[in-house]
Parts: sequence; C-alpha cells; structure tokens
Amino acid sequence: MSDYTGVPPAQNKVTILLVGSGGREHALAWKLARSPRCERLYVAPGNAGTAAWNVDIDVDDFVGLAEFALEKGVDLTFVGPEGPLCGGIVDCFLERGLRIFGPGRMAARLEGSKAFAKELMARAGIPTAAYRVFDERDDALAYVAEQGAPVVVKADGLAAGKGAVVAKTDEEAVEAVERIMGGGFGAAGKRVVVEEFLVGQEVSFFCLCDGKTALPLMAAQDHKRLLDNDEGPNTGGMGAYGPPVFWNRDLEEEIMGSVVEPTLRAMDEDGVPFMGVLFVGLILTEQGPKVLEYNVRFGDPETQVLMMLLESDLVPILEAGMNGSFESVELSWFPGAAVCVVMASAGYPESSTKGVPVGVPDVSGEDRGEAIFHAATVGRRDGTGVDTGGGRVLGVTARGEDLAQARAQAYALVERIDFPGACFRNDIGSKGLGV
Ligand code: AMP
Ligand code: GLY
Repeated sequence: MSDYTGVPPAQNKVTILLVGSGGREHALAWKLARSPRCERLYVAPGNAGTAAWNVDIDVDDFVGLAEFALEKGVDLTFVGPEGPLCGGIVDCFLERGLRIFGPGRMAARLEGSKAFAKELMARAGIPTAAYRVFDERDDALAYVAEQGAPVVVKADGLAAGKGAVVAKTDEEAVEAVERIMGGGFGAAGKRVVVEEFLVGQEVSFFCLCDGKTALPLMAAQDHKRLLDNDEGPNTGGMGAYGPPVFWNRDLEEEIMGSVVEPTLRAMDEDGVPFMGVLFVGLILTEQGPKVLEYNVRFGDPETQVLMMLLESDLVPILEAGMNGSFESVELSWFPGAAVCVVMASAGYPESSTKGVPVGVPDVSGEDRGEAIFHAATVGRRDGTGVDTGGGRVLGVTARGEDLAQARAQAYALVERIDFPGACFRNDIGSKGLGV
C-alpha cells in the first residue's frame, strides 16, 4: 500500500536542523525560515539572533544532535562550520539513517588538511600555488631561506582562518615557521605548508555538490584583513560583497572546468565522493585562476551576502544536493549586489572584550533588503537586549540595485547600531568600485 497523500513530495513540509552559531548560521536560518517548505527550524546552539529557533546542544556533540534529530523527526540537517564536518558529524547522522547534506569526515579533508588538498590538486592537475610540506622545523626553515620572501607559511590543520602568514620579508617567514611549529597552533601546526605567493584578485566561489556533479551558486569577495586597504592581521573575515564586479559566466565556466569538476572526479575516483558545499578560494593570477584553498562549507561572511541575494527557496536546493537532482533546480538571484559589513569587538582578532551591550535596531519588519545578522551575541536573561560574546559580533547586510547602493545602505545601517568600541572596516565593497 502506498502512503501517497495526494501532496507531491516536493510540496512536503520539512523540519530542519541547522548546526552552528555564527553570522553565517543566522543568515542561513533567516533564509530557511522564510521557506514555504519549512515547517519547523531548529538551530543548535545558535546565537541571540536565532533565539526563536535555538536548542542548546553543542556543535561537537554529534550523538546529542543526532538523538535530537531523531526525536524531533528532523528531515534535513545542514551544518555551518567546518569543525563538526571534519570531525565526522555527517557519518554519525548517516549511520543513524538521518538525512544530512554535507561531506563525511574523509571528504572533509579537502578543508581539514591543506597537505591532502594540495596532493589532490597536484594529482588532478588543478592550478594552485607551488608548495612544499614539512614535518621538521629545520627543513622548513632551510626551504624558506632558499625561496626567500615573499612566501606564504600555513599551518596544515584547521586554524579558524588564522593559520596563514603572508611573509613579506625573510625574517617574517622564519618567525612564522617558528611560531606555527613552536606549539602556538597545537596539532594544526605539526606540519607546515610553505607556498608560492600569488598576486591577483581573491575570490570565494561557492558550489553545491552531489558527489558527481556541481551546481554553481555565486562568487563573493571577502575582506580578510582587519583594517582598511587590506592592512593589519588576517581575521575570519571583516566583510564581503557579491557578486564581484569582475565575475562573469566565462570565468565561472573556466573555474568549473579547471577546478570544480576535476576536484569532484578525483574525489569520486578515490572512493570519497564529495557531497555538500564546496567553497573554492581562488586568486585570479595573470596565468589564470589558481586555488588557494578548499573549504567544505559556506563562508562567513560571504553567506550573509549570498542569502541576501538568493531569491529561490533554499530548501529544494539542499534537497536536490542530497538527492542528486540538480537538474530540477532553478536558481534565481536578486539582480543587484549585496554588502555585509562585520562589526567586531575591540581587540579582535587577538582577543575580544565580552559583555558589551549592543543596541540593534529591529529591521525585520522593514522589507528594504537589509538584515543585521548576529554572530557572537548573547541575549540577556532579562530579555532587555544583547551583549557581545566574542570577536565578530554583527554582519550588517544590505542589497541594492548596484554595489554603490548596497554599500551606502549597509553603512547607513551600521550608523544605526549602538556598539561602543566596535571595530569595522569602512571600505567593504570598495575593491569592486575601484575606490
Ligand atoms: P588561508 O588560510 O589559506 O585561507 O589563507 C588566508 C589568506 O592568506 C588568504 O585569504 C589570502 O588572502 C592569503 N593567502 C594565502 N595563500 C596565499 C598565497 N599563496 N598567495 C597570496 N596570498 C595568500
Ligand atoms: N570567509 C572565509 C571563510 O569563511 O573561511
């Protein structure tokens, strides 16, 4: 007997679990909650911006999350951050018969180990910076001396976007090897990757993959340095805009053909087909696009921009990824640009003051194409507002008919936020405006 109810499966309502607590997850939750297909949304553990959907389970408590998903009849789980993906949350859910869209632990090594990613790129002929991997400090130091600056020194493992040092002088290169291998990065710094310094525009390109094929989504430009004009230390990302002004269909097709498709083929041939979000970080060099890194998840703060521009329903798109049916997906994007300005705590990225009260205007009712996505925010127990809880606090996001308009609107919204001591860049999107 069939359990057909007369409702085509695509119309079925779903219960969704989103794992994570950053600005990226607030943007994803904001988008998912607007889906007519979303019956119920849970965010674990979430932040003050996702309070309506939060469940207090840690992102690393895979069994706790899976038990929760079973108990609540969750139909679809999506994971924001790389930590749980590299740790095997997808394997844990699949073993229990739960539906989840993301890479298993072995496939997540594309992000979790730079050495693994580099080896795959070499094997598949994917353009990337020339590199060497070292387990011994003295060998790394000798190589750095031989190469000379500028050179890039990276911790092999996950380091929250803070494990790469672009050394402009020989002294900086030596210091970076010593700091990374000297214990400052824990297990992530046991090996270093030393690579050629690439020159060109940097771009984040996002695709969804079903193991065999990829659906290109969109590209965006992150602003990783703390200060205006790309000065100061690297951070998790101080803002983003998209689509990049130089982006076009030819460039997208070139990257699909030279990077994304060979990556999926190589993973599939190795018996670890890649499912989930593939985020390729590239530099567009004079010799063509070269891969800086892979990530196996959406970017933060690029996702705030992507979700602001995506007009299609996200739920069927994620389902198509799980079902291998991208041909059924119609992607529709807002015909303009979006900008996200990150407001961070004083002291970020080295340290961050916590417990600073932040006044956030409620823009949810005003459908003006803007949103204030929370990241490290903590709701006060008495319900009177929110306090800062870490480094990146808010992602102030707006869209407009063009980049100049989106940027003006995002910064006008920044002005409306009462956040004493906030640090933010004044030039997000100006790369694209050539100012
Ligand atoms: P990663 O941790 O690999 O994402 O690197 C962090 C940042 O360092 C990148 O976003 C780039 O801005 C910069 N970077 C990394 N590798 C290179 C490279 N080979 N050449 C130039 N810049 C790089
Ligand atoms: N915005 C860069 C990242 O998420 O890694």
